[in-house]
Amino acid sequence: MTRTETLLPDAPGLARAAQILRTGGLVAFPTETVYGLGGDARNSRAVAGIYEAKGRPRFNPLIVHVADLAMAETFAVFDSRARALAAAFWPGPLTLVLPLRPDTGLSPLVTAELDTVAIRVPAHPVAQALIRAFGGPLAAPSANPSGRVSPTRAEHVAQGLSGRIAAILDGGPCAVGVESTILGLVGEAKLLRPGGVAMEEIEARIGPVALHQPGEALTAPGQLASHYAPAAALSLNCGPEPDAVHLGFGPGAEGIVRVTLNLSPAGSLTEAAANLFHMLREADRLAGPKGRITAAPIPDHGIGRAINDRLARAAAPRPQDGSA
Ligand code: TXA
Ligand code: MG
Repeated sequence: MTRTETLLPDAPGLARAAQILRTGGLVAFPTETVYGLGGDARNSRAVAGIYEAKGRPRFNPLIVHVADLAMAETFAVFDSRARALAAAFWPGPLTLVLPLRPDTGLSPLVTAELDTVAIRVPAHPVAQALIRAFGGPLAAPSANPSGRVSPTRAEHVAQGLSGRIAAILDGGPCAVGVESTILGLVGEAKLLRPGGVAMEEIEARIGPVALHQPGEALTAPGQLASHYAPAAALSLNCGPEPDAVHLGFGPGAEGIVRVTLNLSPAGSLTEAAANLFHMLREADRLAGPKGRITAAPIPDHGIGRAINDRLARAAAPRPQDGSA
């Protein structure tokens, strides 16, 4: 067991976090999507520590977080599509999977020895400040035990990883609330995971994007069926039911049953995404491990696509081993 320090995102807190990272330690930090579990992407001991702290299968590669496009270009080869998307959406919730440059010094554990690398420039000011204070690339998966609900608050990180990591930088709740969109740009453009940037917005810049086909080889383990699993059973596209905790959406969901958590009373998909993981945790706590959660239908466009993707995985039958 390690004693996990909670750090404020002020100058002393950031300096301490950077010092921990330089010695190969792990620091959870806020991004605009979810909290990440950061380690030096060039240090195999740090990266192995990330897999170990999460209990994550080794074959899952990690996203490299950098401060800006210039830093990203030292690790990955950008074509005109990648440049256009970086100009439009970075910093922000878009991860690009691109050809890896040779001899970049990245640990082979980060890319799981693939010849591609997933890279993103987070927009959160604390993530930006941390990368700059550390002065290098951070490998960072979501800061949760493998297969469980991703953390959107520092206390969620502490609940899952306290005693297993050196520190948590507390930057408050995450604004976007679902993970970044992952887009493969090796050959044809392919959506590997829907997320914070809507596919419609990407297609508006680079034209049609292929969807991952079920049964196709697994390229992003976020595609594993079961993920984000609550302990309670979750049913989708439901109305409220007696004895279930209901995750509602839109006006009028309150007061129908004993417990309703409304993802967005106003019917805003952006607000629903920001509330999703916290309310899923709350619903799980209220329902108890033998209980049930029902979730209202969510419109399947824009960031709603990412919400439905996460809900579908949370409701899927669970394998023995977890994923990201
Ligand atoms: O919003 C996010 O993306 C958050 C924050 C912390 O930045 N991070 C995150 O990381 O969700 P993680 O590790 O939970 O999910 C990363 C996904 C995995 O599904 C992984 O398989 C995929 O990225 N990935 C990483 N490298 C890849 C590669 N070279 N090719 C294809 N998929 C890759
Ligand atoms: Mg994850």
